[in-house]
Amino acid sequence: FFDPDETIWLFGYGSLIWKAEFPFHEHRPAHIEGWARRFWQGSHDHRGTPEAPGRVATLVESPYSVCQGMAYRIDADTLGPLDVREKNGYLRERVILHFQDGSHAEGLIYLATEDNAAFLGDAPLEEMARQIATAHGPSGANRDYLLNLAAALENLGAQDEHVSTLMTRVSSIKN
Ligand code: BEZ
Repeated sequence: FFDPDETIWLFGYGSLIWKAEFPFHEHRPAHIEGWARRFWQGSHDHRGTPEAPGRVATLVESPYSVCQGMAYRIDADTLGPLDVREKNGYLRERVILHFQDGSHAEGLIYLATEDNAAFLGDAPLEEMARQIATAHGPSGANRDYLLNLAAALENLGAQDEHVSTLMTRVSSIKN
């Protein structure tokens, strides 16, 4: 399995882009191909409640899509605590990370699929926007998750139509 002395690249596409609460050796902007970021994962414990779940990012397979994010080089044993997420039903997959200098490396993504109990899937844009604009949970407002993500992507110089479309809709809904 993983050599404990080995380091591993972990790709962040959601909150991990702006908030990595684990030790890492370096972080580098990166993209993955064939995956799209979508606000299709429900959050009833961080950005919402069981009665009013929020929506957070997951990855869906999408042949011609590119997803930009931040890659972290971590010790293999740092994965332990992160795997708690996997116990919440997140799946782990191996992908190729493409760095800005044209080099690439193998890395890991965690994602929630329809097999995840909290998965919400697609919904009409207005419905997703309303949900994000109004949900709150122990980690804060769902709206702030979207704002933080949009700001982090802008810092990376990354375009994401799904995120910017949601931003436009959510901004038009009052707090
Ligand atoms: C994220 O980038 O938001 C993320 C990464 C790993 C697991 C779950 C979420």
